[in-house]
Amino acid sequence: MKIAVIGAGYVGLITAAGLAEIGHQVICVDDDTRKIEVLNSGGMFFYEPNLGDLVKRNQGAKRLEFISQVEVALEKCPVIFICVGTPPLENGDADLSSLELVARRISEHARGYHLVIEKSTVPVQTGRRLQKHFGTYGNNPLFQCDVASNPEFLREGSGVEDFFHPDRIVVGVDSERAAGLLEEIYHPLLRQSFACPVHENCGNRPRVPFVVTDINSAELIKHASNSFLAMKISFINMVADLCEAVGADVEKVAEAVGMDRRIGAGFLRPGVGFGGSCFPKDLQAFVRVGRNSGCDFTLLREVERINQSRIDLFIKKIKDELWVLRGKRIGVWGLAFKPRTDDVRFSPSLAVIRRLLAEGALVRAYDPQAMEKAKAVVPEIEYCSDAYAAAEGAEALLALTEWEEFLRLDLTKVFQIMARPLILDGRNMFPRARMAAHGFEYVDIGRGSPARKHLQMVP
Ligand code: UDX
Repeated sequence: MKIAVIGAGYVGLITAAGLAEIGHQVICVDDDTRKIEVLNSGGMFFYEPNLGDLVKRNQGAKRLEFISQVEVALEKCPVIFICVGTPPLENGDADLSSLELVARRISEHARGYHLVIEKSTVPVQTGRRLQKHFGTYGNNPLFQCDVASNPEFLREGSGVEDFFHPDRIVVGVDSERAAGLLEEIYHPLLRQSFACPVHENCGNRPRVPFVVTDINSAELIKHASNSFLAMKISFINMVADLCEAVGADVEKVAEAVGMDRRIGAGFLRPGVGFGGSCFPKDLQAFVRVGRNSGCDFTLLREVERINQSRIDLFIKKIKDELWVLRGKRIGVWGLAFKPRTDDVRFSPSLAVIRRLLAEGALVRAYDPQAMEKAKAVVPEIEYCSDAYAAAEGAEALLALTEWEEFLRLDLTKVFQIMARPLILDGRNMFPRARMAAHGFEYVDIGRGSPARKHLQMVP
């Protein structure tokens, strides 16, 4: 099928390359000509495992092209995925101006039948507005369209895997024609009948559920899913605080709680809180949707509040150890909001760093992928060439993104080069026993009383 994907951002690129990989002819469009140039010269402008290879292979096979003229794509493709950004406005509402602009262009240039699919995360009833827009502005008698919602559930760092092996594919439609087209588009994924480009041996995969709903419900499923996951994280963070206060181990608690199939094991890792381009913005937008619809979403406000207070709590832990921060040299491991990405948007690590800077601390940081992006928003810290350099001479080391690389470090060396061998682990990434064996003072989150004091009690 000939498909246009509008927006070559994170979601658009994975969608475009993924659809090309399963056999479609895809044109990916972006206004940003620099982006298009980079992609057409074999480059990539953000880090995402497996994506660069996928893009190149499909460009090589002539199934995927990048252009900046939307009218060219509209002329050739009856199916349009809208994947433009919907960032938060000051008041928490989603900014839908890019989406509206795309809708205008479609109504100006499209001829014949088109299926317009919103993949960007949008508040409920956006599909209705799009329909109304096309009803009002799509005044060319030769233009006909169906609107559909097809929310993405792609996690940064494993977005390509998530595209090929989704838990479900949700489509919100109001015509059989739209449902039929979407089923045809996703047929290879639903049957898992394609050669997987990510895993060598992942045969015998179960079919993927295809959930067909009305458009409003599909839009709501995305916000509800992300808000629920954010709620799980804030919940376990709240429990972690209690564990710390009473001397229980949140890891054991989360493990056993998560064994209940009604709850599930995922998203019960405590730490400095959730960040990224989705959870904070989706939560805010969902709260606004609730308020605008006259529904009480206080529950989600609490989820947000708990998440924000994770930073205060972590700063308090640092101060409990270091007392005054002014002039102290503090190392930071991890800047991205989570591992396997270079994205620093709403990164808890940067939130901690900004607070340290405000208190006059000297911060030296390292991240395997996110340093360039971090430099653009927090230029005033020192960026180090590796994890050891960030630890050197530090009076405390903060572990804030759980990159695998940090687990493989030579901790004996880290111990020797630090001015004070104190590690505050905001992601519980190191086993306590290992840190104790190396002689570190080690502060983590919710795994009982602070390790150092706990160890002193051991005879
Ligand atoms: C999320 C959703 O998972 C995805 O389905 C959606 O489409 C986009 O938003 P993403 O933002 O990439 O994906 O990251 P995710 O893996 O969900 O993690 C979000 C944040 O929560 C990260 O900061 C992560 O560190 C934090 N987190 C996650 C926790 O603090 N504890 C957990 O147990 C899980």
